[in-house]
Amino acid sequence: MSGFLLIFPQIFKSNTLIKNNSVQEIIETARVEDVIQDFVSLKRRGANMMGLCPFHNEKTPSFVVSPGKNIYKCFGCGRAGGPVQFLMEHESFAFPEALRYLAKKYGIEIEETQASQEEIIARQYLDSLYLVNQFAKEYFQDQLFKTDLGKSIGLSYFKKRGFREETIKKFGLGFTTDQRDSFTQLAMKTGYTLDSLKKLGLTSKYDRDFFRNRVMFTIHNLSGKPIAFAGRIMIKDAKAPKYINSPETEIYHKSKVLYGAYFAKQAIQRQDECILVEGYTDVISLHQAGIENVVAASGTSLTTDQIRLIKRYTPNVKILFDGDFAGLKAALRGIDLILEQDLNVKVVLLPDGEDPDSYLQSMGTTAFKTFLEESAQDFIFFKTNLLLKQVGNDPVRKTELVKDIVTSISKIPDPIKRSLYIKECARLVDVEEQLLINEINKIVSKRLTKHRANSDKGSLHKVEAKQLSDSLEVPTAPAKEASVIGDEFQEKDILRILIAGGAELFDKEEKVTVAAYILSNIEDVIDDFDNANYQKLAKLAQEQVAAGNELSTQFFIQHPDPTIQQLAINLITSPYELSENWEKRFEITLQTQKSPELNFTLDSVQALKRFRLRKIVKMCQKNQEEIKSLSAKGDVEKMMIHLKVQVKLTAIRNDLAKELGTVVL
Ligand code: UTP
Ligand code: MN
Repeated sequence: MSGFLLIFPQIFKSNTLIKNNSVQEIIETARVEDVIQDFVSLKRRGANMMGLCPFHNEKTPSFVVSPGKNIYKCFGCGRAGGPVQFLMEHESFAFPEALRYLAKKYGIEIEETQASQEEIIARQYLDSLYLVNQFAKEYFQDQLFKTDLGKSIGLSYFKKRGFREETIKKFGLGFTTDQRDSFTQLAMKTGYTLDSLKKLGLTSKYDRDFFRNRVMFTIHNLSGKPIAFAGRIMIKDAKAPKYINSPETEIYHKSKVLYGAYFAKQAIQRQDECILVEGYTDVISLHQAGIENVVAASGTSLTTDQIRLIKRYTPNVKILFDGDFAGLKAALRGIDLILEQDLNVKVVLLPDGEDPDSYLQSMGTTAFKTFLEESAQDFIFFKTNLLLKQVGNDPVRKTELVKDIVTSISKIPDPIKRSLYIKECARLVDVEEQLLINEINKIVSKRLTKHRANSDKGSLHKVEAKQLSDSLEVPTAPAKEASVIGDEFQEKDILRILIAGGAELFDKEEKVTVAAYILSNIEDVIDDFDNANYQKLAKLAQEQVAAGNELSTQFFIQHPDPTIQQLAINLITSPYELSENWEKRFEITLQTQKSPELNFTLDSVQALKRFRLRKIVKMCQKNQEEIKSLSAKGDVEKMMIHLKVQVKLTAIRNDLAKELGTVVL
């Protein structure tokens, strides 16, 4: 279990750190059912326990706790994790806080080490930046509430916009006058250095105040500390930008911040939905009206980091688009990024010329809420309908439309969701489902080939990849599995066994673990995974085993990287055990027996065979292409080599197929 030593960062608390062996002890001791029962009442159901999910509103329990696996998972909202994760989500604890809580609960003594001088200095430096910003925030607030100009210009502006005083205070709104350097001078007199003021972008390089004659918006981090500011201009001056913002600093990484997240996070969890708007004022206005689960990407188009941030709280996003058509099409492209992160995206289009703030003000809260409920459309269908309206009966444009939609659908990682969308879109656009499936396969293959061509794997591989992409023919997969990307099913199966049973003994006499057996058998094709996430997991497992660490289930499901953690939990819970109806509901035939834990040896042998068969079939196809092109070029010598390879591959393929009782076409 020394694996934890490698992955857990040292944990700060003031000037001490929690020692790694304490972290390890806590993680190994904490029982998920103990921890959760302090907050949620659970009833036993066979090997598991069930209760009402604390993260979303529900009347019938879909929150499952598995003492055996030491995890919880909600089949309603999808949240899942171990004891530490539960505390982080439920109590909004940071990682070290959760550890301290657990240590106390289980009476584990935490060993702390003194932080080094450098670590203390680094920490103090960051703390000082927050302090400077806190000073600035209070200064801007004082200007707004306590000066004549602030009151007559700033405060009256906010009030005219309908912001109540408590809202203005809550969001840290403020004001600055047009004076040259009053703020900078006061800050320096108070003891803050010019250097730190400049670093934070509060003072310009000519020692003047950076924000002047603007109303101010404080940008907070997730713990409510001020990390940056935005200033909105008060006069209509075409030359100056409407908003100016603090620069990137050590405490403000624009692409990772969502405006309003600190005030929204609890409501987002409670309602299991995040509303995304464009403007600072939209966030404030909706929040004030009681719609608190709202954030803005503030100026930039949404980034992957911001999407991941949302995903920590909910898988459901509702995007409100201002009602101007021009920006809409560009915005639609950005949404594919959200789909890639496996979030459910709904879209609300506001009437022409309105933004969320203005529309809310004109309709009133109740009507606005109803509007949000009733006009929210699933993104894929929204996009399809929108494009359909433009296309009419033009067949060329309809083809383009199909390509466009299918590109969006292909970004969805979940194969089940993907196939549901394909069905529905085929109906909407009125084309054969198989046609959409073929298109998706084309896109996916292209993406994979490109991905492979880009990743550096030696010249031979690159040439192969290039040839593949030039002459790629996509086989029509059988309808049911068609929307699964490539060999995802087989890869998933392998990873599931690796995570759930990696530490078991494959061969009791030889003392070979299931993990060692699987990893040695996929080593040669580990770069050929179709699903990048599964590949990431496989490589992580490889590293662990190579470093001589045991590959425990807890290593994956309590991993600090949330992507790995969630993926691992999904792999070992769904669909094999916790949800019995999965098979029936989605008409998906599972390829493994029901309780794989019972027989990891047999299971891994079978799964590996299926996995290798897929890869070998692909190799055969590739090699066949190669032979074709060499024959066309008349390169007989090389062709002979490839023919020999083909004979070998075909033999392996046939053997595997025979063992599996499968027919390969
Ligand atoms: P808007 O122009 O819609 O502003 O820009 P707004 O927030 O609705 O403000 P009001 O209602 O006119 O007072 C939307 C968002 O785009 C970013 C800001 O984050 C703004 O909230 N933006 C806009 C900038 O960063 N810089 C700009 O110059 C303009
Ligand atoms: Mn606005």
